[in-house]
Amino acid sequence: DWIMTDHVEEAVKRIREQVGDEEVILGLSGGVDSSVAAALIHRAIGDQLTCVFVDHGLLRLDEGKMVMEMFAGRLHAKVVHVDASAQFLGHLAGVTDPEQKRKIIGREFVEVFKAEAAKLKAGDGGHKGAQWLAQGTIYPDVVESGGAKTKKATTIKSHHNVGGLPEQLGLKLLEPLRDLFKDEVRELGVALGLPPEMVYRHPFPGPGLGVRILGEVKKEYADLLRRADAIFIEELRNWTDSATGKNWYELTSQAFTVFLPVKSVGVMGDGRTYDYVVALRAVQTSDFMTADWAELPYGLLKKVSGRIINEVRGINRVTYDVSSKPPATIEWE
Ligand code: XMP
Repeated sequence: DWIMTDHVEEAVKRIREQVGDEEVILGLSGGVDSSVAAALIHRAIGDQLTCVFVDHGLLRLDEGKMVMEMFAGRLHAKVVHVDASAQFLGHLAGVTDPEQKRKIIGREFVEVFKAEAAKLKAGDGGHKGAQWLAQGTIYPDVVESGGAKTKKATTIKSHHNVGGLPEQLGLKLLEPLRDLFKDEVRELGVALGLPPEMVYRHPFPGPGLGVRILGEVKKEYADLLRRADAIFIEELRNWTDSATGKNWYELTSQAFTVFLPVKSVGVMGDGRTYDYVVALRAVQTSDFMTADWAELPYGLLKKVSGRIINEVRGINRVTYDVSSKPPATIEWE
């Protein structure tokens, strides 16, 4: 709509005035906020922006590929793709405590990002280097960091809209979304030409699959979980509710698969299997502080379970989580 188009013009102008001919670094996570910030800043200053995408090995199936296709491919933005999965998995080996896992992932994330940012700041032959760090901070983040926070919320902010990082890096801070609510950020994303599936995606936690694999994180588990979760999400998007005309991805606020490092017995053909279990989780909520488990159609659950068990060798049992928050949390860790 035209109001958003005006907003784009306005925001673009402001970024150009702020940045001038200097260069900007942005940490791209594939989430809504950093994606919209990247698209907006790229619209304003083009190649003066370099995005850094850190793959910690705990992302969803093909996430890295999709981010690169969208930003480097379609928008022609400069994107540095850092595959740090081996490093993250190495540091997580043997660690089972959820908060400990969060701490390690958050710390490594900052390390890897800082190293890349330092290189971009230094510049190279004839290239003067970056002076700005852009972040996809939105208005609710600004409010939240002023007030009381839960332990988890602190962790969230500690490695995404990172307090203190610009100072540590000696960079100026650029936050073009800081006056906007989430809905406005999404509208802005659409106005900038980002695909609605990207802009209306469910939230995904910074520690990623690291908190959706219970206990110790292993590559084998992450690979199985990624494939199972992709099937669940695909079927949610495919399954339309006739009463509302919406699909079940749209009808849920967050949906994902959890990997349980537990084996149970099954049969397949003439043989016995002894394989892992996953739990499907889908909730409806307006604020993520309380949430109801979603009453997904049985037909949908049946389809998802059948596909996961048939297509993902190594998983032979699928369960559905029927716990609301409180007392359960949305994530299992
Ligand atoms: P819980 O599990 O606390 O989750 O009911 C509420 C919302 O917060 C997200 N969440 C996180 N997001 N880092 C994040 O960026 C985290 O460590 C984290 N833990 C939970 C969760 O996905 C849900 O949307």
